[in-house]
Amino acid sequence: MSPALRPRNDNFLRALLQQPVDRTPIWLMRQAGRYLPEYCATRRRAGDFLTLCKSPDLACEVTLQPLARYDLDAAILFSDILTVPDAMGLGLYFEAGEGPRFERPLREEWAINNLTAPDPYDHLGYVMDAVRTIRKALDGSVPLIGFSGSPYTLACYMVEGGGSKDFRHIKSMLYARPDLLHRILAVTTEAVTAYLNAQIECGAQAVMIFDTWGGSLSHAAYSEFSLVYLQKIIAGTHKTWADAAIPSIIFTKGGGQWLEQIAASGCNGIGLDWTTDLAAARRQVGDRVALQGNLDPNALFAPPEVIAAEARKVLAAFGPGNTGHVFNLGHGISRFTPPEHVTALIEAVHQAQGSEAR
Ligand code: CP3
Repeated sequence: MSPALRPRNDNFLRALLQQPVDRTPIWLMRQAGRYLPEYCATRRRAGDFLTLCKSPDLACEVTLQPLARYDLDAAILFSDILTVPDAMGLGLYFEAGEGPRFERPLREEWAINNLTAPDPYDHLGYVMDAVRTIRKALDGSVPLIGFSGSPYTLACYMVEGGGSKDFRHIKSMLYARPDLLHRILAVTTEAVTAYLNAQIECGAQAVMIFDTWGGSLSHAAYSEFSLVYLQKIIAGTHKTWADAAIPSIIFTKGGGQWLEQIAASGCNGIGLDWTTDLAAARRQVGDRVALQGNLDPNALFAPPEVIAAEARKVLAAFGPGNTGHVFNLGHGISRFTPPEHVTALIEAVHQAQGSEAR
């Protein structure tokens, strides 16, 4: 890694590359979000969530908010995974209190055949502007994480037309017309690869792929409909940029039984949800990949001393060694989390260095 491009605090990158760290780095999925009053204030100013995502200066402002409050070791681009299907023409909107929706869900064969991968600089230019603006504003302090949804997770929203409890439409397609689903996944893989590469070219120093719904698949279907496309993305994504290594993380929620296969994909780190035993996961993957996780986000509702004890349990589960672990939650932080409980978590992780963490 070129020293000129290395952030002053590069523990997050080092942990993923399995180089020695000063302390176990920590960041939190959805660290910029509704549990922070300053986020809610900026979102009100923007008018709505999607406008916030599409305004690079405001996206930069909310990206930096959790870093101003907490001693975090990485920043994550403020955006959403669903901007990619939006750029593919599906018409993303957010219904108040209902989550994301698409105006044109992808179910007809003709629409699937017409699907094309958008040029990220053209159709997602606002994301690239946000990445450049955030990277400049970080001024070499901590690394910036870029991200995308996995093809299967994006396809869930594209075919269902929004969130789903039973995945009826996409599972029907998977079993009845696997050819159609493979076509969606192939085009989305092309889109995601170009999108992640553009984020790297604009300043993202690591990338994470959110495979939130991969864990809803059967064992065989996970390999066929999620993992192979994740492998293609990892193979097609820049490994270095401007002389710096660009580590990648795959997070399949509910994917604890597929760690071997995920580790073989070529990614640098695996994100774990809280249902996986971190100690067993480490034994399984050895030093082939780093591990990220995996405190239950609901532990943050407990009193600060309980949060600290739970954090130490996660560090102890990872065990000794001075690299290879990025502390995180097992999924995004809840909007109902008291912000001062996050302080307790981060202090506990940083104070534990030298004892439980090593
Ligand atoms: O981690 C971060 O801080 C970066 C920003 C980020 C957001 N969404 C902001 C957001 C990231 C990485 C995501 C990823 C994302 N988006 C995923 C994968 C990770 C996961 O959580 O499983 C998914 C499935 C989505 C789709 C999505 N976006 C949903 C289902 C929702 C509604 C969630 C809810 O709690 O209502 C969103 C909206 C969203 N994305 C919010 C934020 C901060 C809340 C929107 C608001 O301000 O109203």
